[in-house]
Amino acid sequence: MNISVPVLPLRSGAAIPQIGLGTWPLDDDEAARVVETAVGLGYRHFDTAENYRNEKGVGAGLRRSGIDRADAFITTKFNKEWHSYDGVRRALDASTQRLGTEYVDLLLIHWPNPGLDQYVDAFRGMRAAQEEGLVRAVGVSNFKPAHLQKLADAGLVPEVNQVQLDPYRPRRDVRAANDELGIVTEAWSPLGKGTSLLEEALLKDLAAKYGKTPAQVVLRWDVQSGIVTIPKSANPQRLAENLDIFDFELDPGEMSALEGLETGLPVTDSDSFGH
Ligand code: A2P
Repeated sequence: MNISVPVLPLRSGAAIPQIGLGTWPLDDDEAARVVETAVGLGYRHFDTAENYRNEKGVGAGLRRSGIDRADAFITTKFNKEWHSYDGVRRALDASTQRLGTEYVDLLLIHWPNPGLDQYVDAFRGMRAAQEEGLVRAVGVSNFKPAHLQKLADAGLVPEVNQVQLDPYRPRRDVRAANDELGIVTEAWSPLGKGTSLLEEALLKDLAAKYGKTPAQVVLRWDVQSGIVTIPKSANPQRLAENLDIFDFELDPGEMSALEGLETGLPVTDSDSFGH
């Protein structure tokens, strides 16, 4: 199997594949193995972070796979100690060194850390790195609408906002703010890890109807919603399964039924948590 995944255009001209491979909490060895397998299955988008401590493994897996660098889309993220104009450059240099690549496709502020209140400066540093070609696209992660607004007030608009998002927590407020600013929404933990999401009767019914699994129905909902999604799996069969969602389509009623699964279950609060 080698599936070609649709891409969404980003403002800078980069194109982000709508399904990527989440790599937390894989260590370097696991990441190298899983990334190499994933490339063989058709994955071209790989999501890592300084904080995951597996950038070396992701880079090694990509090299082992033999894929051309230009055909891979690599996202990484940096921690709060680098939230300054110059700090971003040091973080990026360290990440590209660990990855063994000259540039990253997408660089994200991992958490806003509003108590530190340095993400505007950090974003300016990211734009400078982008102008130098060290990073193709710049974005944020775990930003609430108020954090996005503060950036927008400074004339800065991220290309992507990666947030915790699944049918239990569809993040309508964040998606609306992203849409208004022209920011692509990306879902981390799209399968609702730690919840009973994949046991939902609605998902089981739709899975039976389409000959798919509940996880494939959820990922299909992401893609049809215009969201980029990065399910993590270390299992070759589930890696393949998570990519195999382009031969069926949920109808509008099914799409809104999925939105109706919203539970009010909390997400990690980025006003109080961050690293
Ligand atoms: P595994 O690595 O053993 O496949 P998320 O990315 O939403 O945080 O989800 C990751 C979790 O979901 C991991 O525990 C992963 O386990 C599991 N997972 C990934 N793909 C599937 C799938 N298609 N069906 C069921 N569980 C999955």
